[in-house]
Amino acid sequence: MGALRAGRLIILPTETVYGLGGDASNADAVAAIFAAKGRPAFNPLISHVADLAAAERIAVFDERARVLAQAFWPGPLTLVLPVTPDTPVCDLARAGLETVAVRCPAHPLARAVLAGFGGPVAAPSANRSGRPSPTTYADAMEETGEAVAASLDGGPCEVGLESTVVALLDQPRLLRPGSVTREQIEAVIGTLAEAQADAKRSPGRLARHYSPKAPVRLNVSRPEPGEAYLAFGPGEHRWNLSPAGDLRQAAARLFAYLREADRTDPSAIAVAPIPNEGLGEAINDRLKRAAGYVG
Ligand code: TXA
Ligand code: MG
Repeated sequence: MGALRAGRLIILPTETVYGLGGDASNADAVAAIFAAKGRPAFNPLISHVADLAAAERIAVFDERARVLAQAFWPGPLTLVLPVTPDTPVCDLARAGLETVAVRCPAHPLARAVLAGFGGPVAAPSANRSGRPSPTTYADAMEETGEAVAASLDGGPCEVGLESTVVALLDQPRLLRPGSVTREQIEAVIGTLAEAQADAKRSPGRLARHYSPKAPVRLNVSRPEPGEAYLAFGPGEHRWNLSPAGDLRQAAARLFAYLREADRTDPSAIAVAPIPNEGLGEAINDRLKRAAGYVG
């Protein structure tokens, strides 16, 4: 907490991925986050808060937003909402937009830090821009550990994929699939529209993302010699995302296995087909980005 108050950065565990956190109201701290990640400043950051009351100080909640927060917070759902007139979240954290992304994470260490700090903490995933998100303390330290004044080891991340991002500006839109699934959200507020492909509404969709060094090939049932294979389902493989075909287990392992496979310098990383329902939508979204199919 002292580090955050002093405008310094921290490595913060969450249930999704490790974050690189700083005081969201302090433009110098936020600038240091962009610099450490090498992230383009047009891509805004998520502000993390301890609870709904803290969230309502930075963003305007309508009925739909409140219902979603009640259903899924604390947890891996981020809401993009209009800012309050006196929002403490600085312009840079919002990339100059009149909207802000808010999330109330479930991880006990993150919750303790946020409750103690009191204000919003801007925290993108702790990877350098364009690299897979870190899901272990060691991976987070390897990516951006040099930039921080303090770091918290919360063990491996339970979810392993970044939070679901939903914009509630006009009709509800899914900006980023995640572990709170489309089906779960639609059960609460009805049909989700697709993200619009303009920079103002879905800035993150323009950024290149999640890429290992090796090329990534998808929907591969038989890998070529020299390729690292990320399997899914029964079979003996060095990297099996889930021998039992469990999407939760596959999500939790995905980024760590991409990193491990990449370290062996394969000619390519070949990935088995992953069913596209439920959590599979988020897994396939990250895989397509890793393979360079989505800009
Ligand atoms: O699970 C997570 O959400 C992790 C952990 C650390 O909490 N954080 C994370 O942050 O993934 P980041 O900065 O890597 O991703 C934020 C996403 C980006 O796609 C960004 O474009 C989008 O949220 N976003 C942030 N503010 C936005 C806004 N005002 N309007 C639209 N999209 C926004
Ligand atoms: Mg990220």
